[in-house]
Formats: sequence, structure tokens, C-alpha cells
Amino acid sequence: MNAREPIVAAAHAEPAARALLEVDALSVRFGDVAVVDRVGLRLRRGEVLALVGESGSGKTMTALALADLLPPPGRVDAARLEFDGRDLLALAPAARRALAGGDIAMIFQDPASSLNPCFTLGWQFGEVLRLAGVRGRAARRAAACELLARAGIADPAARLHAYAHQLSGGMCQRAMLALALARRPRLLIADEPTTALDVTIQAQIVELLLQLQRDAGMALLLISHDLALVAEAAQRAAVMYAGEIVECGALPRLFDAPRHPYTAALLAALPQHGDSTLRALPGNVPAPQARGRGCRLAPRCPRVQPRCRIEHPALLGDAHPVRCFFPLSTESAR
Ligand SMILES: Nc1ncnc2c1ncn2[C@@H]1O[C@H](COP(=O)(O)OP(=O)(O)O)[C@@H](O)[C@H]1O
Ligand code: SF4
Ligand SMILES: [Mg+2]
Repeated sequence: MNAREPIVAAAHAEPAARALLEVDALSVRFGDVAVVDRVGLRLRRGEVLALVGESGSGKTMTALALADLLPPPGRVDAARLEFDGRDLLALAPAARRALAGGDIAMIFQDPASSLNPCFTLGWQFGEVLRLAGVRGRAARRAAACELLARAGIADPAARLHAYAHQLSGGMCQRAMLALALARRPRLLIADEPTTALDVTIQAQIVELLLQLQRDAGMALLLISHDLALVAEAAQRAAVMYAGEIVECGALPRLFDAPRHPYTAALLAALPQHGDSTLRALPGNVPAPQARGRGCRLAPRCPRVQPRCRIEHPALLGDAHPVRCFFPLSTESAR
């Protein structure tokens, strides 16, 4: 790792705007292994930021760390972790969890991770709404029906009696979204929210997600390996590889003129929609234990030079930072 790497290596586009979430040098470790390695992110209110990258890049671990849902024995550290101006690192674990539980909601690829199979939807909404301070069963019931209706679920009162296994995949995802919104989060993290769904339903769920996001004025961290989806939904994107951000910037510019060879390869793989393998790049994301000391993409990179195998590139640049010694555009090559 390069000791000269700046601590502030963030997805900054407009530093002047007050951010909802500011993260510098966030790492997630299991033992000595950093599965997320000094990641920087910045999200403004109401903004949609996409986090993209192949499977195993560390996207989910980043999200779980932000939502304070990391499985043990994972540990988080960061140079800065601020939500709405509050320093989460300074809070006691219980206070941090309470804040993350209320203001930051997360939905997953698999609704089974969010919906409890043993309880009816009505029971689950009741619990969440009670925690959110809605008093009285009738009021909670009415609020649950309204949330389900907003999520496009017909006959919500009847659905309150249903268990997750009685709902279709799309319906589960809608219910999960409604449940996530019950506590009025200001940041929603959606981790591959449509990957498990039929292609025809994916578009509906994404449309719903964005509509609810706009209506609620929430910020959205959208994790996806589907670049076509990201291009339509997000204002900015951060590209992750082997635990690090390798490039980030505003859309559509980032995808129109990618500078990092990895982003370019992700885009080159676009026509194989739904195919998670990267035809433009041989091999896979290296396991955290198997990373070399140089650029982590070096074993797969079509532009690799001898320097790349010995030195670790830093993420450099303001509006469009990139982690590469030989980026695609030559105008500001280092
Ligand atoms: N419970 C765990 N313990 C240790 N390593 C883990 C654990 N879960 C995931 N990892 C490792 O963390 C890395 C990042 O995983 P993940 O965040 O799930 O990637 P992505 O969401 O981008 O596919 C992977 O190398 C994975 O093997
Ligand atoms: S630093 Fe070298 S190996 Fe790494 S992405 Fe750039 S050109 Fe490829
Ligand atoms: Mg994941």
C-alpha cells in the first residue's frame, strides 16, 4: 500500500454542497484482511450515488459498515464517518446503531434477509412502526397499509395477514421497500435490489425505488453491477475493485469517458446484459489475501506496465478521481 495515499480519497463532485454522508478512509477488516480498504464516499441530500464493481469487490461490506450491520468479527475503522454533520465514530455503539437504524435503511437482493419468514407482514410493520414512534395498533395498521399502497401493493389490508413465502418475488421486494421506508430513513442503501428478480419486474421495482426516493427526498446508495441501470438511475457513480474505489465521478460523463481500465472493461461488458463475467478482462477479483503490492488490477489489466506491478496507485483528482498510473485519457495522465 502506498503510504503517500491521501486520506481524503472521496467521491467528491461538489465539495461546497453540504453532505448527508461523508466517509473518508473507511476500512472493514476481518482479522488482518481488509475487505474494504480506505474507501471514501460523499452523498448529498436526495442524491443517488451508485456503487458498482464485480462480485467480491467489497460493495456489500461497505454498505453493511455504513448501516452498522457488519457481521462479526468484522471491524470498521475510518478517518471520518459523518451523517448529517454528526460524527458517528464519536458515538457509543448503541447510539450509533440507533441512529443507523432510524436514518439509514438497507434493502437487500434477497427479500428473505429483510422479511422474517416466521411472521406476517402486519406483525413486522407493527414492530418497525412502533420503534418509529407510531402509537396505537390502529394507527400502525393504517400507516402500514399506506406504505404498502405507496409501494404499489394492491389490497394492502389483506396483505398484512400474509407471510413472505405467500408473496411473489416482486411483491416481496415491494413489501421490503415499504418496510424500509417505515422509519422514514434519510439514506436508503439498496444492495443489488433487483438482481434476484425476473427482467420484466426489475424495471418496475427500479422505477418504484426511484419514485419513492424522490417523494421522500431520501439519498440513495444504489449498489449494482448493472451499469445500464446505474446510468439511468444515478447522478454519480463510484467504481470499486478489490476493496478500493478506483474511479468516481458524475454521470453520464463517467461512463461516456471512463479513465480507469477497469471501468472501461465493465462498460465493454455491457452488451452481455445479466452476465456477470467480464469478457474484456480475464480472471477474477483477487481474494483480499491474494492481492499483490502493486495495482490490484495489474494481473488482469490490458494497459499494465512494469511500474504497475511494484507500486500501488493512489486515487487522485478532484471532480473525477482515478486510481491508475496510465489512465485512458492522456490529457492528465501522470
Ligand atoms: N463474513 C466474512 N468474513 C470474511 N470475509 C468476507 C466475509 N464476507 C465477505 N467476505 C469477503 O469480503 C470481500 C468483499 O465481499 P462483498 O462485500 O460481499 O463483495 P461484493 O458485494 O462487491 O460482491 C470478498 O472477498 C469476500 O470474500
Ligand atoms: S495502474 Fe497499471 S495495472 Fe493498474 S489499472 Fe492502471 S494501467 Fe492497469
Ligand atoms: Mg454484494
